[in-house]
Amino acid sequence: MVSRRELPDREHRVAALAAAGYNVFGLSASDVYIDLLTDSGTGSMSTDQWAALLGGDESYAGSESFERLERAVTDVLGFDQVVPAHQGRGAEHLLYGAIVDEGDAVPANTHFDTTRAHVAEAGGEAVDCPVAAAFDHDAEHPFGGNLDIEAARDHAEAVGTDRVPAVVVTVTNNSAGGQPVSVENLRRARELADDLDARLVVDGCRFAENAWFVCEREPGFEDATVAEVVREQLAVADAVVVSGKKDGLSNVGGFVAVADGEQGLFARLRERAILYEGFYTYGGMAGRDMAAMAVGLREAVEPSYLDHRVGQVQELADRLEARGVPVFQPVGGHAVYLDAGAALPHIPSEQFPGQVLVCAGYREGGVRAVELGTFAFPGTDRPDLVRLALPRRRYHREHIEHIAETFGEVLASREELTGLEIVEEPSREALRHFSATLQPLE
Ligand code: F0G
Repeated sequence: MVSRRELPDREHRVAALAAAGYNVFGLSASDVYIDLLTDSGTGSMSTDQWAALLGGDESYAGSESFERLERAVTDVLGFDQVVPAHQGRGAEHLLYGAIVDEGDAVPANTHFDTTRAHVAEAGGEAVDCPVAAAFDHDAEHPFGGNLDIEAARDHAEAVGTDRVPAVVVTVTNNSAGGQPVSVENLRRARELADDLDARLVVDGCRFAENAWFVCEREPGFEDATVAEVVREQLAVADAVVVSGKKDGLSNVGGFVAVADGEQGLFARLRERAILYEGFYTYGGMAGRDMAAMAVGLREAVEPSYLDHRVGQVQELADRLEARGVPVFQPVGGHAVYLDAGAALPHIPSEQFPGQVLVCAGYREGGVRAVELGTFAFPGTDRPDLVRLALPRRRYHREHIEHIAETFGEVLASREELTGLEIVEEPSREALRHFSATLQPLE
């Protein structure tokens, strides 16, 4: 599909930004020229996906489209007990609500926001144990998304190992620059989970991109195909949670799938699906959406697609760096993360340099990015990053150049930029970057 997009003139952009309270979530998409808010559900579908969509079976129970999705999950990911959900967080609600109790702790390489929220909602504490290289600019770790196994073990022993229902590994590690996780690290996470008598859960939203990095970087996998590595990396998991809006190459949907030995858990997940998502053969998705995702999962592991996908992210990073924009290294699989602290050193962290950079990117070139720093994660010591997430199969080299040019221009006149302060925020602080409004400081 193509759709017409125009760059609104500067005056319009300035007014739209002010009307949105300097929060780009409040902009109309029609006022955005290049939308890098997320890579979730925003990609283009293939002709085969559209064809499958038209053949969607909308039966309430036992839909043929669900069976097609089940077969794809079995063939691509290696799990045949599949519970569909309306999107990733729906699948998280099913899983974490079933396995986490009050007072539990759940260590992970880094919990994505919705994972953290669902662990907390079930009464547990989500504990982040990224490797030291995760936020170290100079580390050049090939697998900066890895779980720090010893930190996770220490934490589990401190809270009591009977209080740890699961160890979670997110591939790729979205909250740590989208960096990949090695198969070796997943195997060690498996051993840790065994020692703790806990489940190993893989958040596999970006399972294909992660496998691509393994093929490129991990000793022993030089000759493996992406499809082989996808199965290898997930073979150690008891459960995998997937948002189909990422490597399902779909606009909506998700699922949780469990290993053969987990019949009891499977039954509980199905029950919870009926309660919260929809019958367990549609889980809140239309039959046509399941049919499209079934095709998307298979396309996601095609080497030519992944070479382009990860290559385009790298190309954006290279073009930004060539214009002097500080890019967080190493570059991950779905997004380029800008180091706003380094880009705008005259704006202190409490004045949200990341959000200032996001606003400037929109004002300068109609590009919508997202802040992932002090504004999004209050009370943490996360670096002030800005994420430029590339939708899958959507933009061309000219767009990539426009983005680089935009941020290059912003950097060239950065002294003119001032900090921001919050005007209004929602009661849940953890959700403030979605809806808080701000204003520029004098
Ligand atoms: N896990 C990870 C690692 C994610 O990146 C996301 C979503 C989810 C779970 C939840 O999936 O959106 O389908 O409910 N990430 C999007 C993003 C929103 O922009 O990174 P969902």
